[in-house]
Amino acid sequence: MFYPYSKQSINQDDLKAVCDALRSDFLTQGPQLEIFEKKLGAFLSPNCSTIACNNGSSALWLAYKALELGPKAGLITSPITFLATASMAIMLDAPVYFADVDPNSGLMTAETVKQALEEAPFPIKAVTVVHLAGQGGELEAIREVTQKYNCALVEDACHALGATAETRSNTLSYLGSADLSDIAVFSFHAIKHLSMGEGGACITQNPEYKERMISFRNHGTTRNPSDWQYQPEKLAPWYYEMSEPSFNLRLTEMQAALGSSQLSRVKTANEKRRKIASWYNEEFSEVDFINGPQLPPHPSNHAWHLYPIKIDFNKLGLSRGQVMAKLKEKGIGTQVHYIPLYRQPWYRQQNYPFLTGAEAYYLETLSIPLYPQLTREDVSTISNTLKNITNFF
Ligand SMILES: Cc1ncc(COP(=O)(O)O)c(C=O)c1O
Repeated sequence: MFYPYSKQSINQDDLKAVCDALRSDFLTQGPQLEIFEKKLGAFLSPNCSTIACNNGSSALWLAYKALELGPKAGLITSPITFLATASMAIMLDAPVYFADVDPNSGLMTAETVKQALEEAPFPIKAVTVVHLAGQGGELEAIREVTQKYNCALVEDACHALGATAETRSNTLSYLGSADLSDIAVFSFHAIKHLSMGEGGACITQNPEYKERMISFRNHGTTRNPSDWQYQPEKLAPWYYEMSEPSFNLRLTEMQAALGSSQLSRVKTANEKRRKIASWYNEEFSEVDFINGPQLPPHPSNHAWHLYPIKIDFNKLGLSRGQVMAKLKEKGIGTQVHYIPLYRQPWYRQQNYPFLTGAEAYYLETLSIPLYPQLTREDVSTISNTLKNITNFF
């Protein structure tokens, strides 16, 4: 028996949905795409539009392209995230500046975002907040800061499908619905909440951004006659125009069908994820040197893509690598989310500073298995193995 740190769940309905798509007339850009976009939009907010694409990195690129990031329009984001959150801005030649994070949650705060906006040595056009592990933290307060500084706000909601935002008015708003941002992005990579192998989506409530992202998803083209500059004839069904070159970032019908099928059980899967997180928290409540993540104000505020524990490896006298290797020997997979981006050679070459909150978070974090198939017994087995290895059982 091996417990990976995360795992997809594929059932008979998923298999049927994909096979039906394969047998249909369209393999890409067909009815399944439209159905998936409608379903995801309806799930998130009655006000939003959904533009599905081939992965979460593309979704970030589309968001940054729609916002017109570039050499004179930079980005602030968290260093505790996957490479793509920052790289996709760099691919548009936009400079990136990092805001520090809270050392306990790994999330940027309104205060760290404000400080980064004050310090950034170049003009900032957008801030991307990362809902690390599945929680939104101070999204509403960060929104107020970005509005004050006249910046767009992007949610990297790749970890957070089905989590609600913490709001002062206690209104129910989904993270990634763009209720509290300009554009939100999701990844539907194999081990995310929707498992499409690869897949992604942009969410917005702004019609201009929507049109730009639809066009940039497909080579910067438009088939809408009202957007054409050179109409060849009154009736021109073959005609399309390219306003600006772009990529092919389209989603296949098989992926869209799989996404729709998975979406129908994301709420129940998230309930199970919340239960597993609370079981783990129980297990670690009285263990020295292992701290479970803080539970959010309301259970629905977290989608638990990851369960990152904190271990003081120095006090423990075992390195993180040793703990990971021992756990692997016993059949338990773990991972670190994330190496602060400024530690990557590309950023080091440019003398990005190390940030204290991000360093403190990075040095102690370890993600242990979390996926809906885990039972209470599995959680006990994993927790006891970890307690035994760290000698504090
Ligand atoms: C926080 C975050 N942002 C962006 C991405 C990029 O998504 P994808 O792998 O679908 O390109 C990921 C994927 O791992 C992620 O975890």
